[in-house]
Amino acid sequence: MPDISGEKFLIPSGFALIMKKDITTILNQHFSQIDKPLVVDLIDETYSVKDYMWDNWFGFALLAFQNLAKKQNVESFVSIGAGPGIDTICAYHAFSGLKMLIGTDIDKVITDVMKRNIECNTKNVQVKVLTGNLYEPLRETGIMNVDAIYENLPNIPEETDTIKLNRAASVYRSRDFSNAAPHSTFLQRYLLESHFIALRLGRKFLSKGGSMILSMGGRVPFDFFSRMVLESGYGYEELVAGFKLQTEPWEVLPAYAEAEKSNEKEFDFYDYEQAIGILDDLGQKPPFTKYDGNLLKELLDKARISAVEAYRRYQQDPNARVGHTVHMIRAIY
Ligand SMILES: C[S@@+](CC[C@H](N)C(=O)[O-])C[C@H]1O[C@@H](n2cnc3c(N)ncnc32)[C@H](O)[C@@H]1O
Repeated sequence: MPDISGEKFLIPSGFALIMKKDITTILNQHFSQIDKPLVVDLIDETYSVKDYMWDNWFGFALLAFQNLAKKQNVESFVSIGAGPGIDTICAYHAFSGLKMLIGTDIDKVITDVMKRNIECNTKNVQVKVLTGNLYEPLRETGIMNVDAIYENLPNIPEETDTIKLNRAASVYRSRDFSNAAPHSTFLQRYLLESHFIALRLGRKFLSKGGSMILSMGGRVPFDFFSRMVLESGYGYEELVAGFKLQTEPWEVLPAYAEAEKSNEKEFDFYDYEQAIGILDDLGQKPPFTKYDGNLLKELLDKARISAVEAYRRYQQDPNARVGHTVHMIRAIY
């Protein structure tokens, strides 16, 4: 299995404990032109980097950006909720004509690290790192007509105001979103609210023909994605579909199990080993991106389990692994 190699060491710096992570080996599988080590800083508050490449969202984002680069000239790129900024660095390598890179996140502690990471790993491109809720920082600084916006926002709303939760990987503070845009109670129940709001508000900041890239866990029926995009007035395209481990299960599975109780349809999780076995029998290797999202979900159906079942297994054995499909969806303005 390819993994993220390199030195890991801890340096106390100011208030934060910084971990250095070298992700060169991994990215070089896709970008042979990376000519110097790509090392990023991480702190407790930045979304973690997993040791196995395809447990990370940024690997799938990278493939989606490469695919988009074949279809659209992207000169300006924004990542909303960019955490440590690795997805933004991936965009820098994928889009050859890039002139402006913008990364945002809600928390200054995070954006300080992001700024350092992006600036140390890019050149000849204008970098802006902004702090604030969703598109607020773009509005405040007058950024408009962007060619591509990528979002990888958390799925699970929390009523609490506690900052710690706000920084967690899968959780967002609901009031940040509730004041932002009209709601869809239906999508809220399926834990798609954050993506829906990012989609609805994103158009104000896109150039005509620009792309919004939504990174979606395929835990809901696949047609939800196209409906959400088309009903929001965009064109629809899937850039990448694949399969990955459900990370942060302690945080994600109880929330999905709870949400499932009020829904008409169960969520789709998969027994990880069984799903990998099905794809392996079909001659596929990670990240399993050969099939479109709909077919991938059909092929994996025998390994499907509900959220309640996935959480039950986790409670019985915290090492029991479940997975979900990943879909990088392009909404064309
Ligand atoms: C799942 S992490 C993804 C981070 C990054 N894209 C990556 O792959 O490393 C979600 C990020 O969204 C940020 N976030 C949460 N609520 C936000 C909001 N209202 N506005 C902007 N960013 C937010 C979190 O701080 C977190 O860094």
